[in-house]
Amino acid sequence: MSEILVVDDEKSIQESLTLILAEQGHLIDTAGDGLDAMALLAEKKYDLVLTDLRMPRMDGMELLKTIRLQWGVETPVILISAYATEATVTEALNQGARDLVIKPFDIKTIRESVQYVLDRSPRAADEEDEKHRRTRIKERKLDYAIKKKLFEFSALAELGTKVSRNTSIEKIGATILHMVQQVIKADRAFLVIYNLRLEGYQYRGNYRKGQESNVALTPADEFTLEWLERHRRVLLVPDLKADDDFQDCCEPGSLLAVPFVRLSQVRGALILYREGEGQPFDHDAQQFLSLLGSMTTTAIESADLYHQLQNYFKGTIRALIGTLEAKDAFTYAHSVRVAEYAVMIGKELRLDAVDLRRLEYLALLHDIGKIAVPENILRQKIKLSRWEQQILDTHVIMSENIVHELDFLPGGGSIVRAHHERFDGTGQPDGLRGEAIPLFARIITVVNHFDMLTADYPGQPTLDPARAMETMIREASHAFDPELLKLFVHAYSGRSLRSNQAGNV
Ligand SMILES: [Fe+2]
Repeated sequence: MSEILVVDDEKSIQESLTLILAEQGHLIDTAGDGLDAMALLAEKKYDLVLTDLRMPRMDGMELLKTIRLQWGVETPVILISAYATEATVTEALNQGARDLVIKPFDIKTIRESVQYVLDRSPRAADEEDEKHRRTRIKERKLDYAIKKKLFEFSALAELGTKVSRNTSIEKIGATILHMVQQVIKADRAFLVIYNLRLEGYQYRGNYRKGQESNVALTPADEFTLEWLERHRRVLLVPDLKADDDFQDCCEPGSLLAVPFVRLSQVRGALILYREGEGQPFDHDAQQFLSLLGSMTTTAIESADLYHQLQNYFKGTIRALIGTLEAKDAFTYAHSVRVAEYAVMIGKELRLDAVDLRRLEYLALLHDIGKIAVPENILRQKIKLSRWEQQILDTHVIMSENIVHELDFLPGGGSIVRAHHERFDGTGQPDGLRGEAIPLFARIITVVNHFDMLTADYPGQPTLDPARAMETMIREASHAFDPELLKLFVHAYSGRSLRSNQAGNV
């Protein structure tokens, strides 16, 4: 059992190291920085000190130097760092660190390193041991380089998957901003994506020390954005105060920035800062950001294209239901309400944005086939004759034929065809039963019926929503999918409650 002092300004690291080492039977004390550590060291002799490199007040290298001065090699020190540059390795070697562990570390590495150091009595350190120490610390750098590349690669792959699934510029921006900080440790990160006409921004995010921040654009941000606009390439400034262009507008530190260039226009940019004298951004980080910039630009392009296509689809649907409006205003208004109600069930089912939109479009178009039904039948207020009813019933086939032609709604034909099927198999036109009826058709059936009962439909008394719900719940197992009806009742009552509350304000 050994007495170990853990020094780190991050509470979570202190806790995890304590847990890992206490399990090995060691006794652990913790300190938040070099000065706190010195106070503890003055009172007690430790077998080993594990210290982070970057800390406020007194950093790890300073602590190592002070320990060497006061206690010589009696108190061995393991340095922990998020970086393994040539300079860190050389200084760790020169100052006599027994080992260097690179963050993020794993349990095995920490335990093995601690055991390695404790097994060797500091006083017995001979030439052979010194050779080991030097090789070990140098190897850490190599391990780190491999680990870092792997980490960057997997972060890029994960980011690629996440952003390619996203069609929203806001979500793309937020995902990139959040993830970039895990790979490239920055004190501040700022990301902007301009809207298509470049008149304003569509997304703007600001992070400071890993937390979302409301800091407005700084003069340094403005200057960097202008620079990126002019040069359209990645910018790395390792020392802002030594750079002729940046020294007047920036605080000390280093800066790394990438523009998102699409069709020779800058659509946005990502700017990262490391403050103070710490580790500046390096060439590796620059390469990573360059790749990230290309990936973001592609994601923005896809999102733009997706939205253009959606606008085209919406235009097509508007044109189609516009013809219905011209012929039969009631069916048009009914379709708009049915779409709104269907989306309410879709949200209860937590459908994703793409499915929600598809459901909305199909609900809008479910009765489009009525453009082929004679107006006198559509507007007739008395009960239809058998022959007239047969003609009206054909509208689902006509809806299917029209929707089938719309490439952007694949499989939509069979859904609109089934919107008059009944859950017990007694519906039209195929007598489908239960879950053999497509889900979206079952949703449309519920809300279609609700609207028929509550709207001013020709030849039928109008019910208030509560009565309509009661009637539908009674018929549930025959006509509708009872689960979907429950979801609709829940969503509709929530909506009424909200609108009542809004009315009372
Ligand atoms: Fe219908």
